[in-house]
Amino acid sequence: MYSDLNEFNRKPEPYSRHTTDMLWADPWIAQKMLKVHLDESTDLTSRRSQTIDDIVGWLDRKIGLSGKNVCDLGCGPGLYARRMAARGTRVIGVDFSAVSLDYASSDAAAHNLDIEYREADYLIDDLPDAQDVISLIWCDFCTLPPEKRHTLLERIKGMPNPGGTFVHRLGVSR
Ligand SMILES: C[S@@+](CC[C@H](N)C(=O)[O-])C[C@H]1O[C@@H](n2cnc3c(N)ncnc32)[C@H](O)[C@@H]1O
Repeated sequence: MYSDLNEFNRKPEPYSRHTTDMLWADPWIAQKMLKVHLDESTDLTSRRSQTIDDIVGWLDRKIGLSGKNVCDLGCGPGLYARRMAARGTRVIGVDFSAVSLDYASSDAAAHNLDIEYREADYLIDDLPDAQDVISLIWCDFCTLPPEKRHTLLERIKGMPNPGGTFVHRLGVSR
């Protein structure tokens, strides 16, 4: 009996359950999330348009986006992918939210842009190689528990061309 009581009282290991997909990929929640991504009154989930314009402009000045291969991990509704593609970048957007990717694909078509969107979990599924830039935008790296950060960094190591760049946690203070 005491061993059962001990088991009931045992506290879970911190970070022992990784439930991000339940938040982002659930269709009902993802629809609500998409509204927040596109909401110009908040920087929750995606920055506002002006900030995204500024970030992509900064990236372009720093790295020179035209003609580059960019893989945007956790691309969401493609707000960065679309702007990078408009600057002549070949973009592959990876995300596990089908709802966000549907929006991103329609948006790319509406802007006559050729962007490849892949529905995939960047912690598990195959990722493209031969990339000049790998981006993970917003604060997504910091939301991962330590061992998942390690997993992701190990996976990202296999993605770049020589001299390639990994950018994450991009933001602009106003
Ligand atoms: C905070 S949002 C940022 C979206 C986009 N980068 C932006 O700033 O507009 C995080 C995105 O990462 C995606 N995501 C989180 N974990 C993921 C994983 N393991 N594999 C693929 N996508 C993931 C979510 O579905 C969501 O679209």
